[in-house]
Amino acid sequence: MNVPEIIRKKRDGKKLSIEEIGFMISNYVNKQIPDYQFAAFLMASFIRGMDKWETSAFTSAMLFSGKVLDLSSISDFKVDKHSTGGVGDKTSLILAPIAAAAGVPVPMISGRGLGHTGGTLDKLESIPGFRTDLSLNKYKQALRRHKAILIGQTKDIAPADKLIYALRDVTGTIESIPLITGSIMSKKLAEGIDGLVLDVKTGSGAFMRTLKGSVELAQSLIETTKSFNKKVMAFITDMNQPLGNYIGNWLEVYESVKVLEGDEVEDLNEVTHNLSGAMIYLGGKAKSLKEGISVSKEMIRSGKAYDKFKEIVEFQGGDFSYINDLNKYKKPKYRLEIHAPSSGYVKMIDNYEIGMSALELGAGRKTKEDRIDPKAGLIFYAKIGQRYKKNDLLAELFTDNKRVIELIEKRVINAITLSKEKVNKPKLIKKIIK
Ligand code: URA
Repeated sequence: MNVPEIIRKKRDGKKLSIEEIGFMISNYVNKQIPDYQFAAFLMASFIRGMDKWETSAFTSAMLFSGKVLDLSSISDFKVDKHSTGGVGDKTSLILAPIAAAAGVPVPMISGRGLGHTGGTLDKLESIPGFRTDLSLNKYKQALRRHKAILIGQTKDIAPADKLIYALRDVTGTIESIPLITGSIMSKKLAEGIDGLVLDVKTGSGAFMRTLKGSVELAQSLIETTKSFNKKVMAFITDMNQPLGNYIGNWLEVYESVKVLEGDEVEDLNEVTHNLSGAMIYLGGKAKSLKEGISVSKEMIRSGKAYDKFKEIVEFQGGDFSYINDLNKYKKPKYRLEIHAPSSGYVKMIDNYEIGMSALELGAGRKTKEDRIDPKAGLIFYAKIGQRYKKNDLLAELFTDNKRVIELIEKRVINAITLSKEKVNKPKLIKKIIK
């Protein structure tokens, strides 16, 4: 096969064969194809797109560039959840123990924060001692013993994605539905799952800002998951404002623990129970999504999900005394309150700006080498449609970095649009697609 021929074929909008796609990926991984040719291939694919067969072949080539875990010795139906990322999106921390407590094994390989969005690994690692770099043997052991594990991508899982993602990042080829599909699905399918629940975010704090784009991505993810004979269900959920109130790594662990203890955080509870309900349903522990949602709520009410969270934290080396006593955690040096300048309704939130504010306060990274501050972030009270009186508390900022706090105060104020007229609350779950 000839690399320039394949690039030309894609450039001219022709369909590539499974063999051609496999040849490009395996030879790029083996360093037989240089970056400049693979970058041209990526750009041609970005502009011309891929049909569902090509996307599936692309996913398969990336998946089989590494290890695909065999969890067949665990007889239960194993289900994971993947979110396309958002601000304050901490559902994994709550739904993994819920689904596991309901008897559905959850093999979860998660990522770190990316841009303005947070990452499950960074959140979990804010618990002192918690380790996400466990071996694949430990991964299997945890699933057998506790039915849940949350670790990071190892070098054996989809190595092609790691290389290709880094090249996409610097060649303007990230925002492509087939390339995103291959990247996400190659990692998820390597986990050894039987089913997957997808949370595709939409709005100002999501990678896909429009509902149309989010639905297209969901459909591509669904088709690819089905082409590997896995069960799947996708939710399109609103990301025009943070999910829950806490944004930042330890702050999100804090809020998740509160929910596991039974606190009601309206939007966070609604999204979480839908996703965990779907996991319980796909995992065969409920006859419908509705029944799955009631089982999910029961796992919180009975304390079983909280106990499961304790098992997971302890298995992964975390010091549970910080969860038992949430106030034991070290406090940030600076705290600043933001109050409503006038009375009215919250009309709009630029959620990307809220995510970036959390990052600037220390909760995220600007370069790969940056160290995050687990204590940093915001508690954000403003919710679209809610009525506020002058001087009501809209947000609290937390950081050790005195230099940024006033700049971020302005950024957060500018990200909130208040209105005198009544505003309706946005619908949280926009669509469910099977
Ligand atoms: N997340 C991924 O894992 N890959 C992408 O391409 C985009 C988001």
